[in-house]
Amino acid sequence: MNRIYSYILPVTLAAIIISCKHEPDDLPVDPIGPGDTNLTITCSDDTTYFQNDVLPIFQSNCALSGCHDETTAQNDMILSSYSNILASNELVPFNADGSDIYEAITDDDPDDRMPPPPYPPLPADKITAIRNWINQGAKNNYCTADCDTTQFTFSAIIQPMINQSCVGCHNATFANAGVRLDSHEAIAAVATDGRLLGTISHASGFPPMPFNGAKLSDCKITQVSKWIEAGSQNN
Ligand code: HEC
Repeated sequence: MNRIYSYILPVTLAAIIISCKHEPDDLPVDPIGPGDTNLTITCSDDTTYFQNDVLPIFQSNCALSGCHDETTAQNDMILSSYSNILASNELVPFNADGSDIYEAITDDDPDDRMPPPPYPPLPADKITAIRNWINQGAKNNYCTADCDTTQFTFSAIIQPMINQSCVGCHNATFANAGVRLDSHEAIAAVATDGRLLGTISHASGFPPMPFNGAKLSDCKITQVSKWIEAGSQNN
């Protein structure tokens, strides 16, 4: 008996220790497996990806100071990473209609809707992205979005990127640090004074952006840098 236990105990302990070695929350762990962040996964049009499409929505509309960031955690909900979004117990994978998070973002009654007034409701395309992601199983998935450093016009590349990753925290109702990023003029201003590139490249002396979020890819940072070098045009 004792000999069996002296075998079982170390093996059990080792299994527990191995299973406790978590990857950092925000790394994509599904479907590629822990640590394989350098794999290239081609984006499929039929799939909504948490890291690409959904996390930026939560980070810039929900995980805000005074709302659902780590410090405030309104209603005990933190919505800043995959693990804490799932830990909120407000969503049922494969069932958007049965998920409280989905109900909250689609509620017609402004008293119950999230984000609450004075914030506007989420735009339809963002609601659809969250719906599809939940209905596809609410996985922590990502894909390697096509990114081409030779493409860097404002209308096709820069503005959509900033809309996705930044505007939720830098708009008319909510201008963190007094910075708005909802027009060409406003974006060009922070491009010219060096803060756009400084914040997204995590240069020292600048607060790293997106605040609390995953750093933009090197390719995207290069696109922004080339757009600025070419004169931050409204092209
Ligand atoms: C989740 C909210 C959030 C998101 C998303 C976000 N920001 Fe910010 N931003 C902030 C906060 C908060 C500050 C103030 C930080 C500080 O002063 O430490 C800030 C400050 C800034 C500043 C001013 C920095 C300075 O030194 O004056 C710039 C420029 C900026 N953000 C650009 C961006 C860009 C570009 C993106 C997208 C890539 C982005 N932000 C995404 C919350 C956000």
